[in-house]
Amino acid sequence: MTTRPDYWNQIYEDEGRPGWDMNKATPLVRELLDLARPLGLRAGCELAVPGCGYGHDAAELADQGFAATGLDFAPLAIEGAVARHGNKVAWAQVDWFNTELGPWDALFDHTCFVAMDPPRRAAYVEACAGHLRPGGLWMAALFHDTKGQAGPPHAISMADMRALAEVRFEVLHLGAATQSHPRRAGREFLLVAKRKP
Ligand SMILES: C[S@@+](CC[C@H](N)C(=O)[O-])C[C@H]1O[C@@H](n2cnc3c(N)ncnc32)[C@H](O)[C@@H]1O
Repeated sequence: MTTRPDYWNQIYEDEGRPGWDMNKATPLVRELLDLARPLGLRAGCELAVPGCGYGHDAAELADQGFAATGLDFAPLAIEGAVARHGNKVAWAQVDWFNTELGPWDALFDHTCFVAMDPPRRAAYVEACAGHLRPGGLWMAALFHDTKGQAGPPHAISMADMRALAEVRFEVLHLGAATQSHPRRAGREFLLVAKRKP
């Protein structure tokens, strides 16, 4: 049951370094920041990373000067993030669907949306909107191709992503990623979307 923290925690326990963990931030941090800055991302703003895992992306964002919070509901993910990156990031073991979170100015979403079972996608978008200030930016890296494997991660087309996001967001950018990790090259796309008032 991917909706439960135990499912993910067991993977951290069994594998130590799960297949998705790159041991460093995704190069898409830089690519998304370069896209989002001209679209209104403010330097040094308060930013959250849902489903942060071992926290490499959140730590990179803190290094880039953002006030970063890394959130994950798997206890071993947060334990691992603290061990690897210390207190440069504010860490929280919490479910992203908890309505009490935020508000933040921006979200950096790398393999959290795609970890959701497809029936939960609309609620996930709602949670992102609910955790952002009006006008806040949702930056996301998504898969349009998961090589036919059963998820998670679950692939989504750009058209379906646009339709889902547009319920609560204005889509500012939607396009292929060019800086993916070699294992993911040609299969990822990027979203920058602004929360509607
Ligand atoms: C595929 S992993 C990606 C981790 C990290 N973003 C990375 O790229 O290394 C998905 C992560 O999302 C977390 N997660 C899944 N559903 C969640 C939820 N509802 N609330 C918080 N974290 C969640 C899992 O525990 C897991 O650590």
